[in-house]
Amino acid sequence: MKNWKFKNFMIHQFAELGSTNAEAFKMAAAKQIFDRDIILADCQNAGRGRMDRIWSSPKGNLYFSLFLQSKAAAAEVAQISFVAIVALRQAVEELAKFSNEINIQNKWPNDLLINGKKVAGILLESKINQQNCEFVILGIGVNIASGPSETIFPAGNLQEFKIKTTAEILLKIFLDKFEIIYQNWQNFGFINVRNAWLSKAYKLREKISVKEGGAKIDGIFEDIDKNGSLILQVEGLRKTITTADVS
Ligand code: BTN
Repeated sequence: MKNWKFKNFMIHQFAELGSTNAEAFKMAAAKQIFDRDIILADCQNAGRGRMDRIWSSPKGNLYFSLFLQSKAAAAEVAQISFVAIVALRQAVEELAKFSNEINIQNKWPNDLLINGKKVAGILLESKINQQNCEFVILGIGVNIASGPSETIFPAGNLQEFKIKTTAEILLKIFLDKFEIIYQNWQNFGFINVRNAWLSKAYKLREKISVKEGGAKIDGIFEDIDKNGSLILQVEGLRKTITTADVS
């Protein structure tokens, strides 16, 4: 393991871990990590995704968890993953500024798509004590060199879109963007982040299918609300969706 600092962030870098999120939880319990510390791994052998899925984590991609001792109320914690995806999108946009014909979007809740293929995902986990947040672990995986082939939603990677970078370069650009947007969110709330997210939202105001538990619901993706929940218009009624998959 090696420790290095980038601006306000302390990075704990490992060659291999089960999951950077799991390691962050372990280090938090042992009081070994602090606000803005990062657990970074070159690969993971038990990478986890949303909804108990496996996150395929071979070498060559970016896998990290950002530990935040946020003072947010429990209801606001989900907003932090929107802060992160907007920062990640901006970082990839910066790296892609010389690439033609690519469309970088965020897909609800917090996937990053290039030309309709998923290249990154976020798994936000937190510890909440009586309606207040003790800490947040923001786990981010970006497919730089490879992505899985057998997925429900098509996956891609940055290299196939001629975006050249390394895990370390992408992490640093992300952290610069994140710091600015996170501070803006702390000072002014969700409004700017929500607008930035909506400006590049996949299938906004279009027909989508949402899988919530076992049920599939079709509707028009109308908006996201003040907490980041999806607002779906179903037969003229507004339905609020908090946890689901969009296809
Ligand atoms: C998703 O399902 O889209 C979220 C994927 C999150 C993967 C990242 S990789 C780094 C961190 N550690 C994990 O085990 N998962 C997250």
